[in-house]
Amino acid sequence: MKTDPAAPASPRRQFLRRSSAAGVGALAASLSPGQASAQGTGPAATDPALLPPNIPPWTRTQGGGFITPPYGLPSRHEARVVRVLPNPVPTFPTGSRTPLQHLHGIITPNGLMFERHHAGVPDIPPDAHRLMVHGLVERPLMFSMEDLVRFPSVSRIHFLECSGNSAAELVRPTGKTAQEIHGLVSCCEWTGVLLSTVLQEAGIKPEGKWLLAEGADGAAMTRSIPMTKALDDAILVYGQNGEALRPEQGYPLRLFLPGFEGNMSIKWLRRLKVGTEPWHTREETSAYTDLMPDGSALQFTFHMEAKSVITFPSGGQQLRRQGFYEISGLAWSGRGRVSRVEVTVDGGRTWQNAQLQEPVLSKALTRFRLPWQWQGAPALIASRTIDEKGNLQPSMAEVLKARGAASLYHNNAIQYWKIDADGSVHNVRA
Ligand code: CO
Repeated sequence: MKTDPAAPASPRRQFLRRSSAAGVGALAASLSPGQASAQGTGPAATDPALLPPNIPPWTRTQGGGFITPPYGLPSRHEARVVRVLPNPVPTFPTGSRTPLQHLHGIITPNGLMFERHHAGVPDIPPDAHRLMVHGLVERPLMFSMEDLVRFPSVSRIHFLECSGNSAAELVRPTGKTAQEIHGLVSCCEWTGVLLSTVLQEAGIKPEGKWLLAEGADGAAMTRSIPMTKALDDAILVYGQNGEALRPEQGYPLRLFLPGFEGNMSIKWLRRLKVGTEPWHTREETSAYTDLMPDGSALQFTFHMEAKSVITFPSGGQQLRRQGFYEISGLAWSGRGRVSRVEVTVDGGRTWQNAQLQEPVLSKALTRFRLPWQWQGAPALIASRTIDEKGNLQPSMAEVLKARGAASLYHNNAIQYWKIDADGSVHNVRA
């Protein structure tokens, strides 16, 4: 970032100038080649022969060819940006996590979307896949994929979160990074046919109040869906971020229930049965119920509540210089839009409004940003969000008081990060 002293100062440059005690020169250095190192990726390339105005070797030769490979991949220099298994890796891993701290904007690339399977990923030829709709309907129906995609479709951006996201933190701060702690959430553009369209085709009998959704995986994952949700915004999804649904996300067809716990958005969807009551399947009795401190268990806790996390600076990252940083993170609510995100840099004593980046969509990840000066002192930072229905993200103390530590699911507590004087960032309970 070179600045021409003769050029009129832009508001941004004035802002940057104000924000650097050492002056524009030092700030320019900290924002250009050092940007990567400021975000914890190690020392930047410092060989002066590679830097302007010198001519590096890659400017002197013909570069790589087209379609190598035919399906494009990220730069090899981004190889650390991948999904990870829990740490330590369990004997039977059940999920992989999205690198939230490395994402830009609000969309999760398909190759980085978290995975949660109960019997691995089936390999389903789309021609061999069928969706059966039966039970309390006027016309039982069987759809091929070819039949289904003929219906009018929609594309909508929504988050998907496993209700077990952040669960280990209920006991004690466990994960190191935003990915390890909160990486069971992702946000994509989903394309498919509204479930209401297909149910209208089948004709629901008046007594049909619930829907059983069954997957074609080895677990035959089944969940009971209230008809109100099925007729509201549920989607039979075949597309994800502009391409076919990925195998680990349910190819060729999944159910998608915006704002509801991820487990209910049945992947590899093969059957929908209309009934009068919920079925009390294995995954809504032995699991996905929330054990309360008094020994009772909450069943059918569908909504993923208001939640947010700062992704920069976040656990495992390293601030290498004092001065200007943009605090940034993600907020979401299964109840609707995020209406506000507040950030504290003093351990919760004071909170200030972060800027919400457009678009702010219902039941979608929302990017927030806040300019910040780090003067090298230890700092305790956190975010909290309020959704359009007035739901405020609770503190960990409030979550534990209301739900205890045994519930496993639906932990939406405020995440604190502690920045030490040496610039290292750590997961702490405040
Ligand atoms: Co639940």
